[in-house]
Amino acid sequence: ECQLIRWGPIRVSQYACQRRTTLDNRNKIFTDAFEVLVEHLEFSDSKGPCLAFKRAASVLKSLPSTLRHLGDADGLPCLGEHCRDVLEAIQCVISHQLFTSVFGVGPKTAEKWYHRGLRTLQEVVSQPNVHLNKMQRAGLLYYRDISRGISRAEADAVGRIIAETMHCISPSATMTLTGGFRRGKAFGHDVDYILSTPESGAEEALLLRVIDRLRYQGILLYCDYQESTFDKERIPCRRFEAMDHFPKCFLILKLDAMTVEDGGLQNNPEDQRGWRAVRVDLVAPPADRYAYTLLGWTGSTQFERDLRRFARLERGMLLDNHALYDRNKSILLPAKTEEDIFAHLGLEYIEPWQRNA
Ligand code: CTP
Ligand code: MN
Ligand code: MN
Ligand code: MN
Repeated sequence: ECQLIRWGPIRVSQYACQRRTTLDNRNKIFTDAFEVLVEHLEFSDSKGPCLAFKRAASVLKSLPSTLRHLGDADGLPCLGEHCRDVLEAIQCVISHQLFTSVFGVGPKTAEKWYHRGLRTLQEVVSQPNVHLNKMQRAGLLYYRDISRGISRAEADAVGRIIAETMHCISPSATMTLTGGFRRGKAFGHDVDYILSTPESGAEEALLLRVIDRLRYQGILLYCDYQESTFDKERIPCRRFEAMDHFPKCFLILKLDAMTVEDGGLQNNPEDQRGWRAVRVDLVAPPADRYAYTLLGWTGSTQFERDLRRFARLERGMLLDNHALYDRNKSILLPAKTEEDIFAHLGLEYIEPWQRNA
């Protein structure tokens, strides 16, 4: 049988009629990508590699296991250089998406893991010589919960817990929901709140005491506290910086199912623990910077980018999460509300639910 090529313990033919291909496709992630490429090529003039890609996808569908490394394709029929380049690009993108979906893992760590040959989270946690920082360990520990998405009812339950905690410390403090939920999203990857106090200068202490009380209640699963590096004289810089200088924290909280109104926890059939982990971000700006923080944290990121680009290019102003600087007058412009900021920029007011750019 000269057509049958050895591939590990099995033999794979270049002919589909000599392969057994069930609907149990272990390489769907790759064959889907090849099929999208084929559709794209069929639209254009370069139909050349179409058939080669179709053959490659068909071979992959017949395999008993997933191809994780480029070397796994060695010896397979119908996987020439061009197909292998595509396969490698897909493997790289998939690992990048998987690894950066872990709380605490950015593009640099994802790339490092990929180049070390790691492909699954199971491999990451079981490799003894992979150094994980505290945030990444928490991200992996609570991965299933955190990647599940948070419903609006869960976000509101988190809000009630934090509001109650905060009002024990300071009855005059206030809390505002921002991020995707303020833009009207039904699900989010985290919950974002701004805490503020009417007395300027008390915000950092308030945030620290809120964290302490959450810890005391036994619901603080993880806390990355970032102290204030805010300078009220500083002029916004030209480059887009997502990070701001206000005191803030990135948390993982333990949310009790009993505190969530109607329906309880978001699709959680596989476990009966009665709680889930949720990612929560809290920021505590000084009172006079509340409006800038609200505008900056409401997003979307693309909306924020273009607000800043518009300010700079069309108005000669510099905007960030802290301030708006008028370069012609050389002054920082005060604002009490988001409407004030839109007015300074000579822009019509855009509602939060219209900022899903
Ligand atoms: N943001 C920020 N500074 C941070 C963290 C976030 O200015 N240190 C801003 C982001 O630029 C974004 C907004 O806060 O505009 C919300 O960020 P994030 O929670 O990451 O995204 P959401 O739009 O809320 O989307 P999701 O539902 O995925 O949470
Ligand atoms: Mn968010
Ligand atoms: Mn996000
Ligand atoms: Mn966030």
